[in-house]
Amino acid sequence: MYTHNQATLETLEQLRAESIAAGGKEKKEAQHNRGKLTARERLHLLLDENSFEEFDALKIGHGGNIGDKKKYLGDGVITGHGTIDGREVFVFSQDFTVIGGSLGEAHAQKICKVMDLATKVGAPIIGLNDSGGARIQEGVDGLGSYGEIFHRNVRASGVVPQISCIMGPCAGGAVYSPSITDFVFMVEDSSYMFVTGPNVVKTVTHQDITAEDLGGAQMHAEKSGVAHFKMPNDVLCLRKIRQLFSYLPSNNQQKAPILDLSDSPKRTDPALDYLIPANSTESYDMNVVIHSILDGAEFMEVHASFARNIICGFGRLGGQTVGLVANQPAVLAGVLDNDASSKAGRFVRFCDSFNIPLISLVDVPGFMPGPDQEHGGIIRHGAKLLYAFTEATVPRISVIIRKAYGGAYLVMNSKHIRCDVNYAWPTAEIAVLGPKGAAELIYRREIAQAADPEQVLNQKMEEYREAFSNPFLAAQRGYIDDVIFPRDTRSHLIRTLQMLDSKRVDGPNRKHGNIPL
Ligand code: HXC
Repeated sequence: MYTHNQATLETLEQLRAESIAAGGKEKKEAQHNRGKLTARERLHLLLDENSFEEFDALKIGHGGNIGDKKKYLGDGVITGHGTIDGREVFVFSQDFTVIGGSLGEAHAQKICKVMDLATKVGAPIIGLNDSGGARIQEGVDGLGSYGEIFHRNVRASGVVPQISCIMGPCAGGAVYSPSITDFVFMVEDSSYMFVTGPNVVKTVTHQDITAEDLGGAQMHAEKSGVAHFKMPNDVLCLRKIRQLFSYLPSNNQQKAPILDLSDSPKRTDPALDYLIPANSTESYDMNVVIHSILDGAEFMEVHASFARNIICGFGRLGGQTVGLVANQPAVLAGVLDNDASSKAGRFVRFCDSFNIPLISLVDVPGFMPGPDQEHGGIIRHGAKLLYAFTEATVPRISVIIRKAYGGAYLVMNSKHIRCDVNYAWPTAEIAVLGPKGAAELIYRREIAQAADPEQVLNQKMEEYREAFSNPFLAAQRGYIDDVIFPRDTRSHLIRTLQMLDSKRVDGPNRKHGNIPL
């Protein structure tokens, strides 16, 4: 029998089908032809099977003040919540098939609803962005709606992890919201981020530039540092987000989930005892140390292609997530420059916000000298890292592997700025300057007046090395808690993390500090 109920059910079915059809078959095909998945296909891959609960599929768009005023059910974004490895997460996925995924009032209200819920229940937010920015036809309604999202991005910052994935040509507001979030993923060859696209650039500055060169994944991952991860396609990108998620707590009141990789905490690595070259100007790859000490040699590097002279990323020790900040002697001798300082500073602040202990592996010859860096603001940028480490209250351990010179020694999580435990390898060199710079400066007159200045310089450098090219002076002063055998680094770190587990630090009463941005 045909009942009233049945009619309503049929209406619901029709409305749902209309919402799912979104921009239509042709536009979906165009999306596939560009090597992109649709908004729904992406959510399907991101979330655990059958875990997605959709909201506002029937919310209708504004229609705009000009043009064809067509209203779409769902208004070009799919929102709701689901799980990743069984843990709750809120999501939105913009649908480029509906008016280019542009953000109108209803579209934004849907996103704001899940952001509010995420912050309320303490679950991360993942946004899959594929949008031409503020919807032009809606005028100030579209524009103002971005402000609503930015406001929520900032309110949620440091409360729940926020992850953005750029999966299409994103412009205007569609790039500013992601840039406030904690991590930005981009897909190679199909995603772009720019404030204004190549056409506007041409009009305003008369420059010809491709979308790829202006704001492609490679540019943002290597040059601007806007993207933390770049992946070859949608599928691998979504998998990578799931991997990152596994290292993170759901909110700032929780710790990251423990994952036992069955790697003994007592495992030693005798090869580490012989890793450091005899000549301290020779390089080696810090990744060897990182992979050796972490559980299962698993390391998820963040910003892998940007400022490669410093390595930041997540791993596990004794099952617990840790954030690693390590100088990389194999790139620019591991020097701290502008990009390295701001990259690591932001990473340290993320870890501190979300209860992730910090471990620094130090081999740093100092800050990069020269006019380029000074004019670019090395004082300002270096201060970011100094500030970030100094204010961090999570458990902090430092291991000085080799060089720890000058201000960079202090900045890289030293005892003096309150790291909890500072270990050194026997190869550590802790000094104000490197041997050459120091000898040239303090023995300047003696060297100048010598019959053989070269020989005197070498002799003074040798004396300096003997005095400072070891960790023992610092250990005698108590700045180094222990000089350890490199092979035992892993077990020392795990044991110390256990000891620091209940660390509590009270700060001064203030609204917030003023990090040099
Ligand atoms: C309305 C838009 C739109 C927008 C794209 N479309 N962006 N409609 N408002 N912002 C529509 C197009 O008209 C087209 O409709 C469909 O989406 C697909 O777009 P195409 O241009 O065909 O796609 P593509 O060639 O891939 O180019 C994508 C694009 C380009 C690079 C994003 O569309 C573009 O440059 N859009 C404008 C970007 C922009 O300037 N946005 C406003 C930013 S201001 P049809 O019907 O043809 O399919 C902003 C303010 C926020 O966001 C404040 C920030 C601080």
